[in-house]
Amino acid sequence: MSPASHHRADADWHRSAAIYQVYIRSFRDGDGDGIGDIAGIRERLPWLAELGIDALWINPWYPSPQHDAGYDVSDYRDIDPRFGTIDEARELIDDAHRLGLRVILDIVPNHTSSEHPWFQAALTAGPGSPERARYLFRAGRGTDGELPPNDWLSVFGGAAWTRVADGEWYLHLFDSTQPDLDWTNDDVRAEFESILRFWFDAGVDGFRIDVAHGLAKDPEMPDLGLGPEQLLAPTAHGNHPHWDRDEVHEVWQAWRRIADAYDPPRVYVAEAWTEDDERLSHYLRPDELHTAFNFHFLRAPWNAAALRDVVDASRAAVARVGAASTWVLSNHDVVRHVSRYARERQDRSLHSLGDLRGTAADLELGTLRSRAAALLMLALPGSCYLYQGEELGLPEVEDLPDAVKQDPAFRRTKGVDPGRDGCRVPIPWSGERPPFGFGPEGSEPWLPQPAGWRTLTAEAQAADDSSMLALYRAALRIRREHPALGDGDMRWFDELDPAVTLAFTREPGFACVVNFGDSPIELPTGDVLLASAELVDGLLPKDAAAWLRTG
Ligand code: NOJ
Repeated sequence: MSPASHHRADADWHRSAAIYQVYIRSFRDGDGDGIGDIAGIRERLPWLAELGIDALWINPWYPSPQHDAGYDVSDYRDIDPRFGTIDEARELIDDAHRLGLRVILDIVPNHTSSEHPWFQAALTAGPGSPERARYLFRAGRGTDGELPPNDWLSVFGGAAWTRVADGEWYLHLFDSTQPDLDWTNDDVRAEFESILRFWFDAGVDGFRIDVAHGLAKDPEMPDLGLGPEQLLAPTAHGNHPHWDRDEVHEVWQAWRRIADAYDPPRVYVAEAWTEDDERLSHYLRPDELHTAFNFHFLRAPWNAAALRDVVDASRAAVARVGAASTWVLSNHDVVRHVSRYARERQDRSLHSLGDLRGTAADLELGTLRSRAAALLMLALPGSCYLYQGEELGLPEVEDLPDAVKQDPAFRRTKGVDPGRDGCRVPIPWSGERPPFGFGPEGSEPWLPQPAGWRTLTAEAQAADDSSMLALYRAALRIRREHPALGDGDMRWFDELDPAVTLAFTREPGFACVVNFGDSPIELPTGDVLLASAELVDGLLPKDAAAWLRTG
């Protein structure tokens, strides 16, 4: 496909790719309504190609009432008019391919929108109907069925059940506008297989699968009898009543057969939150999904030992099933990593804004570490996911006024959970004041951008060799050209103190060194290809990383 990736077999592109997450509503607003759209993405495709990525993953763009930013889909075969038209979507796919970029879409099979025609039909048809059997309707408990069928909780807060007018309850592991489908139902399976083919026929290269660990539910629907913490956590035994159950794998085997029937084969990446890497590797067996996000990497604190453990455990787990590793630092659901690494305390996972409340942020430190983390991630064996804006070093917007927040988690918990809006603020492209080129002059982005982002625009950074953008561009260029990078092997290089450094070599002739300690360190022999901070008398400063050509 692209001349630079000649050393990678085509069908295996996903094992090495750098994939850029386009959060469409915040990427670029072509029509000035304050919300990003397909026209905006198409306009920036050359910019993305120049950045040096291999593929885009576009968050849900289907018609949706947008109660959960598009993860509440009312029609899986069309485009939300806020984002554009189906013709524009097809043109985007073709434009991307012409530029050597692949396109991954987001599919949401665990639940539909409550405005989906199936759910509307289920409401009208009533208890016991085949329409209701596509979802998880149950009678309530209590003398008049006035209590929910069990004690399950919504991920966004509150009960996971809502009662309808005729007295039955339906399950929603997320918002009440996101009813869960029943994946033992044949209509459900057939419908999603047809949706996959619809988009694969349009040329889409793969799918990111939302909540891939959630589709199977224990038919007995037993109470959990636990607190909210445990209710949300999958177990390592496949016996949680709604997370990471073994029955879910049958669905992925059927989906794999569909992807494999295409030439070139289409690929999947699972959003699967599991207790450990061993459980995650079940999703990656050769007849299931190709890759899965490595959230253990994203959740690791900035600390050599913790990151090394994550790297070892994830590599060992994927090796057992012949899959490739993936690496990710940020996405639209977690606090941006500049702000996570800006915290003094790194001894627990800090991926939600609620965890960070009341802790001071040193954004300069967070930025330094993020530069080093980028070089670490891009050097590790496998593929990686970049979340739009991380190449600009954007921090989390932690002080969004409540009135502008849209995340259902904020609303359902009455603000106990501050929500995910702060990592979704529209991208600053250019200029001196909002909308910073996100949309036309005078347009108002759906979330306000901080005035201070004027120094972080893509335009400002393009003119500065020491910017985060310049670092990402240089690193992605080397990553594409260097035969040692992408999929393959690595070896820890333990001549440097493993308590405060992460150092590894990759063949042929490449080393990556990250310094987590308090003092500058000497680098192994070799030429420095790229460093995240300026060397001081030839030494690598703290919170910095370097790539070397060795031997
Ligand atoms: C995971 C998505 O990434 C998140 O944004 C969404 O709210 C939930 N799944 C529910 O679909």
